This record gives sequence, structure tokens and C-alpha cells, in this order.
Amino acid sequence: MNIIKCSDADEIAQKVSEMIINKIKEKPNAILGLATGASPVKTYKKLIEAYKKGEISFKDVKTFNLDEYYHLPKSNKNSYYTFMHENLFNSIDIKEENTHVPDGNPADADYYCKEYDKSIDDAGGIDIQLLGIGRNGHIGFNEPSDHFTSGTYKVSLTPSTIEANRIYFDSEEEMPKEAITMGVESILKAKTVILIATGKFKAEAVRDMVKGAVSPSCPASVLQKHPDAYIFVDEEAAALL
Ligand code: GLP
Repeated sequence: MNIIKCSDADEIAQKVSEMIINKIKEKPNAILGLATGASPVKTYKKLIEAYKKGEISFKDVKTFNLDEYYHLPKSNKNSYYTFMHENLFNSIDIKEENTHVPDGNPADADYYCKEYDKSIDDAGGIDIQLLGIGRNGHIGFNEPSDHFTSGTYKVSLTPSTIEANRIYFDSEEEMPKEAITMGVESILKAKTVILIATGKFKAEAVRDMVKGAVSPSCPASVLQKHPDAYIFVDEEAAALL
């Protein structure tokens, strides 16, 4: 694990976007694994700037997102489909057919999840997987449990995650209690993994991920085993390291 301590979220976005920009320059048809949430937003802004300056093009890039709320319509303002279009896809030259956000409303979830993993493998596998981290150490929506998960699957969210993400919804009832997420094994298959953690609410999860045992009680700790993982932390998130 490479731990990169930065002074703030802006420095993280600068460094992470540079890594992604360099990958796209070296491999214009790069496969990116993308994340939602607040953590990657500044990085996406930097990628949009690089595109607008003509530094990179996304016309041959393919993307696969980590997760999506289950049974939330795509058109909902809080769907990850909407998030990705508003924060990145609508502002770059990526082809809609090259973007993949898990379908939160599949007819047959088990079948759909297997197909999602297959489509990642068929595309050649993820070159760079971007991640945030939940306050309880989750990555994607892989919640703490007694085992590491494998491929994409439907998951029940923990009370901690429901509480953390509930602020985006008008009421608790509207906040989905389940999601479709790439599994830990799907995430580990990425050639390079970049995780961003900022703010004091992430300090304990960051400590457990970096200094704790590799354990499904902190799913992000599995990144200790990844051969090319970069953990970008600001001062508050690094406070307990
Ligand atoms: C959410 C998402 C994760 C995200 C994490 C942190 O629940 N499923 O993919 O990384 O929580 O979110 P944020 O970056 O907003 O702190």
C-alpha cells in the first residue's frame, strides 16, 4: 500500500487526476473503475478541465462504476447514474455506450450481477479503480461482515451507511436500504487501485484499513494485499496513522 499524505482535498485531486490523465495519455482506451460520493468530485472536476484544455480525450475510454442503489429509478436525483452524468459524463466526450453504472432495477439481480462482472472482464479488466471509503471501512457498498465478498452482488446496507447517506434524501423512507455493488474480489482485480479519504469522519476507518489486520470487519483493509494500491489522505483523515 502506498500512503500519500496531502494537505487537503485539492492536493489529492491534483495528484489523483494526474495519475488518471497519465494513464489515458499512455492508453487512450483505458478502462476506468469509478466511484460516487463526495470523495472523487474534485478529481472529476480536474479531469473535465484537462479534457476542456484538449489535454486528453475520453472518446475511447470505458468506465465501470462500483455501485448503485437498488430499486431507485435511474432518473432519481440521488441515483449514482444521475451523479455520474452530472459530475463527469455530461462534461466530457465519453460515449454513453462506454459508460456503465450498475442497473439498480434489474429483472433478475443474480443474473445481472454476473453479467456486469463479465462485461468488465470482456472489456479487458479495469486499469485504474477509484475508491472512496465509508465511515465503517466499506469500499463500494461492501459492508463490514465476516467474509470478503467476491463478484458483483446485491447487498443490504448497514445502519451506519444509511445514516451517512441519508442526508441526500428527503426522508429516511426514501433512502434505499439495499444496493448493487462490485464485490471485493472484483475490486481487487483492478490493475491499480486509488482510494481517497478526507475529513475527520474517515480517520478511524483509515487507521483500520492501513494499520489493522486484513479483515472483512474493515473491508478496505483488503487493499493491503493489492500489489498497486495508492491511499490518498488529507490531514484529518490521516490523524490516527
Ligand atoms: C458511499 C459509496 C461509496 C463511497 C462512500 C464514501 O456509501 N457507496 O462508494 O466511497 O460511501 O462516500 P463519500 O465519498 O461521500 O464520503
